[in-house]
Amino acid sequence: MQAAVGEQGEHFDRAVLDHRGLVLHRHSGKRRLSQGRAQVRAGPGRPVEDSDLDALFDQMRDPASVLMAAFTTEDPDDRSAFDAHMAMLRSSPDITLRAVTCDGRLVGSIASFVFDGQSEVTYWIERAAWGGGIATRAVALLLDLVPARPLHAHAASDNAGSLRVLRKSGFKIIGTETSFAAARKDEIEETILRLD
Ligand SMILES: CC(C)(COP(=O)(O)OP(=O)(O)OC[C@H]1O[C@@H](n2cnc3c(N)ncnc32)[C@H](O)[C@@H]1OP(=O)(O)O)[C@@H](O)C(=O)NCCC(=O)NCCS
Repeated sequence: MQAAVGEQGEHFDRAVLDHRGLVLHRHSGKRRLSQGRAQVRAGPGRPVEDSDLDALFDQMRDPASVLMAAFTTEDPDDRSAFDAHMAMLRSSPDITLRAVTCDGRLVGSIASFVFDGQSEVTYWIERAAWGGGIATRAVALLLDLVPARPLHAHAASDNAGSLRVLRKSGFKIIGTETSFAAARKDEIEETILRLD
């Protein structure tokens, strides 16, 4: 997911924004995601707030997460760069950036933006919450929120979790390309997907 998780500053400044929100709650009843998995339900949401920034910063510099995402900023520990970037994202009228919460607790973020004339989606979930269906549900909600189609996504070709989320969400693989991944300090293959 090159643009959002990675080189966000360069890519986020042409996008489409809708000011409705996105939130997830664990739920004991309806909207079961899959057998034996966490259950989430949608509710009224909110944009990213100042009080989210410390947690988002920590989520997005978690070494295992950074390695997985691969296409990250040069220095995920650079708080000043992170703050500047988040300020840009939050103030752009062309970007949909939403906090993802579960049981009222912030567990990640999701965004859509436009790069090179193509609408894209990206997301980041804290490691402790992985495997609970949260990213899948967050993407479903974002797809309701953002009407632009086709919608594209990029993921490192070895990011099996993200590719699974996208395939489950209806995205189809349309190709691959090789790009420099800062977190790997090397050029690696990334997979390009599209939802029509
Ligand atoms: C990728 C990411 C968003 C997934 O979040 P999540 O909430 O755990 O995702 P979900 O639980 O909705 O779905 C994950 C799916 O991938 C599968 N999966 C996870 N790791 C996998 C792996 N190594 N190999 C194969 N499948 C894997 C899970 O089994 C699940 O599929 P299933 O529902 O069919 O069982 C999360 O790991 C993350 O934020 N990683 C770091 C940042 C990142 O990579 N962002 C995306 C950049 S493109």
